[in-house]
Amino acid sequence: MNRQTEAFVHQQAKRDEADTQTAIGVPLPHESAALHVSGEATYTDDIPELQQTLHAALGLSRHAHARIVSLDLDAVRAAPGVVAVLTADDIPGENNCGPVLHDDPILADGEVLYLGQPVFIVVAQSHELARRAAALAKSDDVVRYEPLEAVLTAAEAKAKKQYVLPPLHLKRGAPAGKIAQAPHRIAGTFEVGGQEQFYLEGQVAYAVPKEMDGMLVYSSTQHPSEMQHVVAHMFGWPTHSVLCECRRMGGGFGGKESQSALFACAASLAAHKLRRPVKLRADRDDDFMITGKRHDAIYEYEAGFDDDGRILGARVEIALRAGFSADLSGAVATRAVCHFDNAYYLSDVEIVALPCKTNTQSNTAFRGFGGPQGALVMEVMMDGIARELKRDPLDVRRVNFYGIGERNVTPYGQTVEDNVIAPLTDELIESSGYLARRDAIAAFNATSPVLKRGIAYSPVKFGISFNVPFLNQAGALVHVYKDGSALVNHGGTEMGQGLNTKVAQVVASVFGLPLARVRVTATDTSKVANTSATAASTGSDLNGKAAEAAAQTIRERLASLAAKELGGMAGDVTFVHGEVRANGAAMPFAQLVNAAYLARIQLWSDGFYATPKVHWDAKTLTGHPFYYFAYGAAVSEVVIDTLTGEWKLVRADVLHDAGQSINPAIDLGQVEGAFIQGMGWLTTEELWWNRDGRLMTHAPSTYKIPAISDTPDAFNVKLYGNDNVEPTVFRSKAVGEPPLLLPFSVFLAIRDAVAATAPGAAHAPPLRAPATPEAILDAIGAMQTLNAGTPAATIDSAASPASPEAAGADTTA
Ligand code: MTE
Ligand code: MOS
Repeated sequence: MNRQTEAFVHQQAKRDEADTQTAIGVPLPHESAALHVSGEATYTDDIPELQQTLHAALGLSRHAHARIVSLDLDAVRAAPGVVAVLTADDIPGENNCGPVLHDDPILADGEVLYLGQPVFIVVAQSHELARRAAALAKSDDVVRYEPLEAVLTAAEAKAKKQYVLPPLHLKRGAPAGKIAQAPHRIAGTFEVGGQEQFYLEGQVAYAVPKEMDGMLVYSSTQHPSEMQHVVAHMFGWPTHSVLCECRRMGGGFGGKESQSALFACAASLAAHKLRRPVKLRADRDDDFMITGKRHDAIYEYEAGFDDDGRILGARVEIALRAGFSADLSGAVATRAVCHFDNAYYLSDVEIVALPCKTNTQSNTAFRGFGGPQGALVMEVMMDGIARELKRDPLDVRRVNFYGIGERNVTPYGQTVEDNVIAPLTDELIESSGYLARRDAIAAFNATSPVLKRGIAYSPVKFGISFNVPFLNQAGALVHVYKDGSALVNHGGTEMGQGLNTKVAQVVASVFGLPLARVRVTATDTSKVANTSATAASTGSDLNGKAAEAAAQTIRERLASLAAKELGGMAGDVTFVHGEVRANGAAMPFAQLVNAAYLARIQLWSDGFYATPKVHWDAKTLTGHPFYYFAYGAAVSEVVIDTLTGEWKLVRADVLHDAGQSINPAIDLGQVEGAFIQGMGWLTTEELWWNRDGRLMTHAPSTYKIPAISDTPDAFNVKLYGNDNVEPTVFRSKAVGEPPLLLPFSVFLAIRDAVAATAPGAAHAPPLRAPATPEAILDAIGAMQTLNAGTPAATIDSAASPASPEAAGADTTA
């Protein structure tokens, strides 16, 4: 190579590097951002309706548990605009839409298992008329019931040993002995509420009958393949007869992983019966009443520890309210078990998870998928240990962190190989000014009788991959058209998280094309078969890799041709800036593509990816369930009003590990959104069922999700910028769920502020979650008692009467 060519090659390499960096790692806007804000983005309900479209609504059960004595639907059929009314008897195949066990009826048959369960489908000329007629389900003349005993709470179900699946049990070492011998010990109970997904676009399906017993279902779903399967089973059809499509969701958050099924099935059933397109869009109240939520949990825990707060032995029992059916509760409970450790090494540990069967909505996936429920109690324990020892909780957490090369095996047997929690924490503690602010807060509290401030740090370590190994696979289909534009289809679904943007960036970077030359289509079961749900934060890891593989295949074919046309070796051909370069020459990508077409070279390809390394033994709850871990930490500061229980998040500092981010704008959005959503779970969002099992908080009027005004004025969110040790797509890390655990720090900061109301108290505040103003006032009241030296055991009675499963007492044994 002469010096000139050498210089050219060197320059070119530098430019290529810069180009790759502009396609990947650039804070590009969401691919649909403009459509989202202009209102042009098409959601399922926006699809132009076909002629003869009918509208469905569901008639819901009025009892939590009852036998259906009689069903007289004449009045419903006679209601204005009603075209048909369907019941379980109209289902030709299997009356089930459960994802794992077959215990989820589409329509109640003979018995209702929760208040809100769909009993019949009304099909009418309009959405409004269908809803009016469906409301007749409230009449005794329409459905007559014989009420049966209902079990509503996890506590009641646990007492009866009533579970949807057998309890999970993981034990390592000799925790009981270690706890007994430890110099110090805490034991207590704690509770956390559930959480409604509150996707802004509710559950909706639009079913269009096709010839020869076929069905096209447009479904707002995280899992088109599952919708395809359940609809096919309902009809007793082969899977190929059903096609499911989803362009995007207005949020899923786990709530549309399995529970879009009921709506897809009901719409399809009606569409097939009537041979007309049928749309079923749940009203917000119905959506709340019918669908499952995040599992609420009751914990019993104990731990033994040394003078530094190092845990020597720990035990926990997590009773999860699963609801009336199994749904995804087995996987949720498994993830809870695998996240109890959070960022800490537990040499001797026992974890029990009980999937309690209750006569309530069937609880399901919600961002974090049991992980938050597993780790929260550990953080409450850390805080309790620190308060016992009168140490800064940060120091207690630090001594318990997973080590590097030692103290690094999780309770389920996986070695933590990518641990960055200590340096990440150091950086955050420094940038947030935690130590100085702690002192300032103590000084403030000393002179402020009514307002009290609190601050807390909390870390997260979150396992990435489905716990069920076979789910960790994905496919993609990439087409390059003659003009050099590319179309990508993959098995993942877009729910606002930016998956399609990231996948488009990946394909654009493989072809060296500007993003505008790559378009991602709606997810469609006829393009990529047998897909997994877009869940467990694995969307871009799996589909990004599959799409990359598909694009690489095409690129290799094109590179061979380019080498022929331009000279040089195929392996040296580069694709950048919309050009293909080799041997010091270049040609436009589109020109090469056209040449490839004329040379009869295949311009489309599939791609497949299966996550390496993962395995799991569901019997022993051990293995290597996660390909890698994502890390993060947060410091939050709050102020509470001790007279009203009101509080405000004053400042939050977040440092989160998204690996080498494919799109920092999207990833920051995910971290911020997850933080605020998790904060809502632990503070303002309270689900409340009355004695009859009726969910009374079923609309935004009574169920408060955080608003933009709830974000703190000082919200310093940063990405940690860390190479994934595993060769994931461009060394990025999954980011959808892990940051939901960061606002544990908000809850713990409130707890810290409550503790400041009784500086002499020996024990941690018995604050339950969500920390609503009532819960905060209850905890402050309990602190006064503790301060006065009343034995800790009596504070159980501090629980609000509104919360029968009570106390959140965090006491010392
Ligand atoms: N972000 C938005 N905007 N909307 C959503 O519904 N769902 C979350 C998370 N972020 C969600 C979201 C959940 S529960 C998961 S599992 C991941 O996104 C799924 O997408 P991913 O795997 O592509 O990150
Ligand atoms: Mo997310 S809860 O895994 O859909």
